Amino acid sequence: MSSSAELQQTIEDMIDASRGILAADESTGTMTKRLNAVGVDSTEENRRWYRSMLLSTPDVGRYICGIIFYEETLGQKDDKGTPLPELAASQGIVPGIKVDKGKGDLPGAPGDQITYGLDGLAERLEGYKAQGARFAKWREVYPITDHNPTALGLTANAEMLARYAAACQAAGIVPIVEPEVLIDGNHSMERAAQVNEQVWHAVFHALHQHNVVLEHMILKPSMITPGKERGKASPEEVADMTIRILRRTVPAAVPSINFLSGGQTPEEATANLNAMNRMRERAPWHLSMSYGRALQEDAMRAWGGDPANLEAAQQAFLKRARLNSQARLGEYSADQEAA
Ligand code: 13P
Repeated sequence: MSSSAELQQTIEDMIDASRGILAADESTGTMTKRLNAVGVDSTEENRRWYRSMLLSTPDVGRYICGIIFYEETLGQKDDKGTPLPELAASQGIVPGIKVDKGKGDLPGAPGDQITYGLDGLAERLEGYKAQGARFAKWREVYPITDHNPTALGLTANAEMLARYAAACQAAGIVPIVEPEVLIDGNHSMERAAQVNEQVWHAVFHALHQHNVVLEHMILKPSMITPGKERGKASPEEVADMTIRILRRTVPAAVPSINFLSGGQTPEEATANLNAMNRMRERAPWHLSMSYGRALQEDAMRAWGGDPANLEAAQQAFLKRARLNSQARLGEYSADQEAA
């Protein structure tokens, strides 16, 4: 298969009218925080057990069409010895891999950050592909303050995303391009809209300069909300503002926009996705999810580190995935939470 045909096939397998992507690619540091929060030790075995539990949930492929793995997980097996990428594929779920190597301060741009991992990326992509990964994810992070992101932060982060995306496509791997504008702070919704517009504009400018084929990528943005300390906007306000700004900045050639949850509660993330899909006549792209916390929080709590809770944890995960599938269709309502 030519590289272009391979990318197109992966895009078709990753995009579905009623399904979305599970982000299970927490680095060991982040996963340790999440596990400790529910009283579980972050051992390699606990991480393996938990992630294979999610993936082996009966029928989960009805609602989830892609999973992002962390490097450690890509090489792990379930209790029966099946490699986890193979287990995913057996559920109709396309396996992918987070390929960035974390972030740090961006020198010359106080308050801004930059992600590491371009060196050696082409070789690593070959290896991940041999292990079954068909798509990748890279996250750049933008804090909102009175001074951030800076002009340098906008340009430098966009350049990283574009170089990563071009490297992926050259390797026959679909890139998920994730510019995460953080929810932290006391900023207004209008300020979040202004920053996201600058970020998306800079990212698509850089993608164009690096000859990234927009038809063969997925955008993973934040939703536009007020800062966490500011209070909440309604799902309709979030959806209206997010779609309005996306329309100004994201070409219609991009097939799908899969939002991150970024610290929203599971219920909020579902309600916001639902409101967005109720307005989908304004959107030329699929509007879906690539949630980490919002898909996993209930399941992780139900598990609590005790293998005897397997079924309860899988039921909690399946329920959240199903409600988000309803939201994909614009058919979710809060009373389905109780059912
Ligand atoms: P959250 O949905 O928890 O924000 O995670 C998505 C993700 O992949 C962040 O990189």
